[in-house]
Amino acid sequence: MNQIQTAASPATVPANSSRSQKPISLFRTLKNIRRFAAELIPPAVSKLFQEKHLALTNESKDDETVEYLIPAKRPSEIWPAFGTTEVTMLPRHLRNHLWAMPENELLVLATICKLLNPVNVFEFGTFTGGSTLAIAANTPSDTEIITLDIPPEERRSHRTGVGSDIPFDYVIGVSYLGTRYESKISSIRCNATAFDPTPYQGKMDLVFIDADHTYSFASNDTQNAIKMLSPNGVILWHDYRWDDDTPECVGVTHCVNEFHQQHKGCIEILGTRFAVYQNSQWSESLSESSCQPRPVEAEV
Ligand SMILES: C[S@@+](CC[C@H](N)C(=O)[O-])C[C@H]1O[C@@H](n2cnc3c(N)ncnc32)[C@H](O)[C@@H]1O
Repeated sequence: MNQIQTAASPATVPANSSRSQKPISLFRTLKNIRRFAAELIPPAVSKLFQEKHLALTNESKDDETVEYLIPAKRPSEIWPAFGTTEVTMLPRHLRNHLWAMPENELLVLATICKLLNPVNVFEFGTFTGGSTLAIAANTPSDTEIITLDIPPEERRSHRTGVGSDIPFDYVIGVSYLGTRYESKISSIRCNATAFDPTPYQGKMDLVFIDADHTYSFASNDTQNAIKMLSPNGVILWHDYRWDDDTPECVGVTHCVNEFHQQHKGCIEILGTRFAVYQNSQWSESLSESSCQPRPVEAEV
């Protein structure tokens, strides 16, 4: 198997990155019309509607505009050895689908895995398995990785979220199938809403959340992540930061903002769309004063 050793450097995601070629869906068009109509309604009336809507359902959190409220840091401020860590990337990491994670973020994920050295990893959202392969190729040989994705026959039951717009022409985990890392990976086919974390309670050193990006799903996955986290475990969310082409990811931003309000310790990883949380007091060792939230329009 061809492998290349790569020294990691902070990745940058251009403002119109990765998922920018996504076709405009009917769902998005309706959302835009709704947004436009909302601007025509007098603020007092719209506030009344909004409050009622908020009281009725959490789904409003997928429609609101949102601020990036958690502190942001460069990877090397979080992990000083980040820039000189050597990682393994395979040609299989070349992006094989519009919705797969781009190579620069895979490099960041790989580096984080090298630095964390996790024994047990859980991933929500396998898709073609690019992120799973990055995790598997950059963790010790006895690391066990469990990756969960919705069964193909249930894909069409998605109403919203990243999963809903994905063309149904992909094979789950194809990126790692047939590689020497496959034996480290167990695949679960299950709707995340039906997933029972009890058998993994307190065991996971890293939980990576990248399944349905709407608020209720992201929150559900986050609650399960917390239950599964080991004492020094880390949660990594993808798509905390997003652009106009992926507005459904607002659910992740809300979820992480709320989580940070309750638990503290979340950090946005500058130059990426990741947010990270460690299940210990690591944030105390990082000076809060030096990690300010970024303005919404900041270049990444
Ligand atoms: C953005 S893709 C994951 C990308 C992958 N982590 C990577 O880096 O290439 C999101 C995945 O989450 C899955 N998904 C969406 N909703 C889900 C749900 N309710 N339960 C389980 N998986 C879900 C989709 O089928 C899709 O494969």
